[in-house]
Formats: sequence, C-alpha cells, structure tokens
Amino acid sequence: MASIKPIYEKKKACVIGGTGFVASLLIKQLLEKGYAVNTTVRDPDNHKKISHLLALQSLGELNIFGGELTVENDFDTPIAGSDLVFQLATPVNFASEDRENDMIKPAIKGVLNVLKSCARAKVKRVILTSSAASVTISELKGTDLVMDESNWTDVEFLSNAKPPTWGYPASKTLAEKAAWKFAEENHIDLITVIPSLITGPSLTPDIPSSVGLATSLITGNDFLINAMKGMQLLSGSISITHVEDVCRAHIFVAEKQSASGRYICCAHNTSVPELAKFLNKRYPQYKVSTEFNDFPAKAKLIISPEKLIKEGFSFKYGVEEIFDQTLEYLKTKGALKN
Ligand SMILES: NC(=O)c1ccc[n+]([C@@H]2O[C@H](COP(=O)([O-])OP(=O)(O)OC[C@H]3O[C@@H](n4cnc5c(N)ncnc54)[C@H](OP(=O)(O)O)[C@@H]3O)[C@@H](O)[C@H]2O)c1
Repeated sequence: MASIKPIYEKKKACVIGGTGFVASLLIKQLLEKGYAVNTTVRDPDNHKKISHLLALQSLGELNIFGGELTVENDFDTPIAGSDLVFQLATPVNFASEDRENDMIKPAIKGVLNVLKSCARAKVKRVILTSSAASVTISELKGTDLVMDESNWTDVEFLSNAKPPTWGYPASKTLAEKAAWKFAEENHIDLITVIPSLITGPSLTPDIPSSVGLATSLITGNDFLINAMKGMQLLSGSISITHVEDVCRAHIFVAEKQSASGRYICCAHNTSVPELAKFLNKRYPQYKVSTEFNDFPAKAKLIISPEKLIKEGFSFKYGVEEIFDQTLEYLKTKGALKN
C-alpha cells in the first residue's frame, strides 16, 4: 500500500555554526516560524557550549550535528533534505600570527565544503553570511562616500598594508568571492547577507565579542575602544545593526522569491566620536568621554541598506533601541551596573 503523505510538510532549514551569536537567534526565529531545523556545531558533546541550543529544542524540531568547516563531508547528513541552508560559521582568531592558515584558508575551504554538500543535496537556496568587512575596505579617497553591494574590499590593499585585523576582512572577502564563483559554476541559488557590526541581546552562554566591541565606550574598555577607532579608520565608519534585524533579514531574503545577489544589512552609520556623544547624552550615568582630540569626528562613508529596503524589508530597531536593549542585556549578564 502506498504511504500517505502528510498534507502539511514542515519546511526544513539547516544552519551551519549554530552555537554562534547570530546563528542561535536565527535558529530560534526559524523554529518560531515553524521550520524544522538541523544545525551543526563543532563539538556536539560539549553540553555547556551548546546549552542555549538544547534549550531551543523546546520550541520545535531542532537536530544538532557535529560539523567542522575544514572536513569535506561533515555537512552532507545535516544538509540532506533541507530546503534552505544558512552558512554562518567562520573561523575568527584575531590573536593569530598565521592569518593565512588560521583564518583565510579555513574560511574559504569551509564555505566551499558547505556549498558542495548543498549541490549534492540539491538545496533550493543557500544564504551565506558575509560582512561589511568584505565591502568597504580599500584605499578610501574622499568623504561622504556611499557603499553598496557593488563595492568589494580590496584584498591586495589589505595584504600590503597589513593592519592588525587584516586576516578577518581578507577571509570574509575571499570566502564570499569563492562562494559566488562556485555557485555560478554549479547553478546554486546563493544569496549573501552583509551585516555591519552586530549587537543586541544574545542567547549564547558568553557575551559575544561584537557586543563587547559595540559597547566599549560605555564599559570603558580601552583595548576595545582602540579597536573601534581602528575599525573606523580602516572601514570608514562605525555601522551598527540589531542582531534580531540581522536574523530577520536572513529569513526575509531566504523566503523572498525575487531576492538575488548580495544584500547589505545595516541600520545605523556613525563614527566613534558621534557615537560617544549619543551615548553620553542618552546614558549620562556612564559618563562616556567625548574627547577625541584630532581623531576624525565624521565617518568617511555610509553603508547603504537601500537594496534590502527596496526588496521590502524594514528594520525594527534604530540606534536608540539597539543600545537600550544591549545595555539591558549586559545588566542581566552582570557585565554592567545601572
Ligand atoms: N558579529 C558581528 O558583528 C558580525 C558582523 C558582520 C558579519 N558577521 C558574520 O556573521 C556570522 C556570525 O557571526 P557571529 O558574531 O554570530 O559569530 P560567532 O558568535 O563568533 O560564531 C561563529 C561560529 O563559527 C563557528 N566556527 C568557527 N570556526 C569553525 C570551524 N572551523 N568549523 C566549524 N565552525 C566553526 C563557531 O563555532 P564554535 O562555537 O565551535 O567556536 C561559531 O558557531 C559570521 O560569518 C560573521 O563573519 C558578524
């Protein structure tokens, strides 16, 4: 007797790198939308590290698999049967002396390994999380520049100038370029989401590093304040987005039939001195310093989310809510006093 097919079959999504800040919230949103989700983590037996994912299993069907980016066939089983695949995992090791082997090569190999599994499984659409770091970095000439999806970070400039953080933007740019080449050659429907600096409440056991960076002017962490200044000098701006909007944008472009190509996801563009002024005024209790001597007061550029907005997406959170919610989150983690 022929088996009876259920009238309503759940849509299936696979999220690569589920433990992460963005990926874990994306999984939550997918489960809340009724998707069945497979996710991969590097160490599925480390229950402490995946405790936030185990907690999400109460929301719906969430299966957790092991998956290391550099191992070719690790993604075949979790991806099999998925309609959508979201690839968010990326090696980040700012302390590394060997950026080529610790960040760049595994980022490229990882993206290709995931895409190869997607090709074998005939996945309908793949969404790769890139970064504004793959768009804005070049020998920036001029001011009031507008960066959009046609812009690419200049990897030659990065590898010649070798600023301290060069490995990350190089890895993100080269991995995204490799993904586009593979997708074109293998007829994969690929979309890339390009977020700016992400902050907001996190499900992860630890406070994400990008939240620490975004709030450094409030917490007074000098090392991270210098990193923010370095970010403005290298990337041309401090551009910020709420994590919930970043996840919503991933699902939006995944589900929107007409979506294609790259999508910048950026809610607010500013500079370190402008951000300090804003934070000083809105949260006077933290006495954020607004003295920056001859550091550039204005950002050189904005990163434009116009394409995403024209596609029909709207951001839920502006800069006020982004920081209100992030600071409340830090208080719940005991990392910030009232
Ligand atoms: N946060 C931001 O401000 C920001 C801005 C723009 C773009 N992005 C992009 O958004 C994505 C997610 O960022 P995030 O902030 O959520 O990062 P995150 O919290 O650091 O998560 C990164 C994930 O990558 C996984 N990973 C690292 N190396 C791996 C490897 N060799 N094999 C398998 N998995 C590996 C990590 O697994 P483990 O848990 O095992 O370490 C972790 O789940 C990344 O692609 C990032 O480049 C982030």
